[in-house]
Amino acid sequence: MIKDWLTNAKYMVVFTGAGMSTESGLPDFRSANTGLWQQKDPSQVASVKALNTNVEEFIEFYRKRVLGVKEFEPHNGHRILAEWENDGRLQSIITQNVDGFHQLAGNRNVAELHGTLQKVHCQSCGTSYSSEEFLGESYHCECSGLLRPSVVLFGEMLPEEPFEIAFNEAIRADLFIVLGSSLSVTPANQFPLIAKENGSKLVIVNQEATPFDSYADLVINNRQIGDVLSEWHRFWTD
Ligand code: APR
Repeated sequence: MIKDWLTNAKYMVVFTGAGMSTESGLPDFRSANTGLWQQKDPSQVASVKALNTNVEEFIEFYRKRVLGVKEFEPHNGHRILAEWENDGRLQSIITQNVDGFHQLAGNRNVAELHGTLQKVHCQSCGTSYSSEEFLGESYHCECSGLLRPSVVLFGEMLPEEPFEIAFNEAIRADLFIVLGSSLSVTPANQFPLIAKENGSKLVIVNQEATPFDSYADLVINNRQIGDVLSEWHRFWTD
């Protein structure tokens, strides 16, 4: 079944969450014990309020995460998705992830719904810098404004362009594959539904169950994404 869907898809779109990068060494948010939100309250470290009233802890939290995306790298699963795009099998990726690993692996059509840790910008003048600037002694812009990661904080407006792109990709998909997301954050979690409602097959690959599993044509739990993608890749390479 899945082999036919993958090899016959005319417009494959992949939707990724933090579970796509745990095999690279980056923690996800909601896995028991290891998830970031099991250790930290997002409102205290990842919100507009935290940026304005708890800046030291905010900076410490995000410096650690920026270091993580510099220290770790895409795994084989990311590289398979890049090969699929190069081969014309995969049309685009919609990602909630901010690690930039899809682009580092070679994917070009990537909609980053929640921004990126690969860049920081000045809270005052908006000037954008590479996130290395955020790791030095000072985390201030030349205009002396505060530098902050170019990710969407809780309580912030969502970037319109990637959501428009994602919406158009979801309605064009005939195969929509979710990889490593608990699908617990709106409005990002609506895209699998939008794809399904517009006639796409919906596949969800996630360690644990998600609230949208009942809408899926296929659910794969309790398997590592890297193993699943390697197995599927062999449909074309063997
Ligand atoms: N293989 C398969 N599934 C995995 C793997 C893996 N190697 N590693 C983790 N998972 C699953 C976990 O079981 C979990 O259900 O990935 C899912 C990740 O879910 P979350 O931690 O909730 O991450 P995500 O869905 O991306 O969160 C969405 O929440 O806090 C915000 O902005 C943040 O973009 C993030 C959004």
